[in-house]
Amino acid sequence: MGNKISFVDITIDEGMISEAVGVLEGGRLVKGPECESLESAFADLCSTDHAIGVSNGTAALLLSIKALGIGAGDDVFVPGHTYFATVSPVLELGANPVFVDIDPDRYTMDPELLNEAVDEASNPEAIVVTHMHGQPAEMDPILDIADENGLTVIEDAAQAHGATYNDKRVGSLGNVGCFSFYPTKNMTVGGDGGMITTDEPDLAAEARALRNHGRDESGKHTHLGLNYRLDEIKAAIGREQLTHLSDWTRARRDAASQYDERLQHIDEVIIPEKYDRSKHVYHHYPVLIPAKERGAIRTHLKEHGIGTGIHYEKAVHQHKAVRDQVGSATLPVAEDICSRTVSLPMHPQLSEPEVEYVCDQIEGFFQ
Ligand SMILES: Cc1ncc(COP(=O)(O)O)c(C=O)c1O
Repeated sequence: MGNKISFVDITIDEGMISEAVGVLEGGRLVKGPECESLESAFADLCSTDHAIGVSNGTAALLLSIKALGIGAGDDVFVPGHTYFATVSPVLELGANPVFVDIDPDRYTMDPELLNEAVDEASNPEAIVVTHMHGQPAEMDPILDIADENGLTVIEDAAQAHGATYNDKRVGSLGNVGCFSFYPTKNMTVGGDGGMITTDEPDLAAEARALRNHGRDESGKHTHLGLNYRLDEIKAAIGREQLTHLSDWTRARRDAASQYDERLQHIDEVIIPEKYDRSKHVYHHYPVLIPAKERGAIRTHLKEHGIGTGIHYEKAVHQHKAVRDQVGSATLPVAEDICSRTVSLPMHPQLSEPEVEYVCDQIEGFFQ
């Protein structure tokens, strides 16, 4: 197979283009029915009472944290292994991120370490959990810790649209869920976009006001809000994308099963774990390989036309921008995983022969 196998493949089909053109022709470009329709469909997906469309996933996190009243002096527990944007809103609001290491098999926040961190914290307020790569975090013990200590739980579900834990959708498990529609995500809006989900009416009203210049339902500027709206063209594309999400998730899971089947036999490769209570949506298919081989295997795959990614090169506390504000920390598991992780091609269009070919090349590399 000489063709290139891309790491991601974004679907923008005729239906999505015609939705976008329809909005342009209609002339209602912001604050209209398309955003409301996507919000309502997304709330249905997550089984939450409210969904609030916003300009991107980072804004979803920022507005949620702000709407919860979290700010200066508050300790917010964050996982060591996540995207930078899980932590930057915490810092932006003047709160204090407390890094918690991850479970070495699940790659999400380790509940026992969270418990220890909460016990040691002087002003614990909230927990941000990331459903990393599309794998739901181990929520039961995390929610118990939150309950026992009166903490709020913010789910960073930017990589996990439609994933479930105990048969409940991510985004409905904590106080508030935050999603990204960045183009490489499991669904997009044809550009940047995001969504907040919650059952709490006051939080929803606050987030709605904060995304639109702090205006309340009557149009008065009652808060100091900025503009974080999701515009109509994107919402219309997102509405159409959402109708494909369950098929796309099935295709991702099929590709993941095929990878699992082939790669589990290679000693040097560790495949993602599966858990009975969680249903992974494989935003990424990350494998762990020995750190000293990572550069070489990526080069080998590239030479055979196969794209790969690294999520992420650094644990989040290791970024200069974070270190400069918080000081240095050590999270051995997150740091180790970051040194060994490689994300293989994963998207709904990946064919069986393509997955076979990727596995052949990995097998060939280690033989
Ligand atoms: C885990 C995680 N959190 C937050 C974000 C931020 O989302 P956005 O890029 O839409 O601002 C992303 C995606 O980039 C992400 O993967």
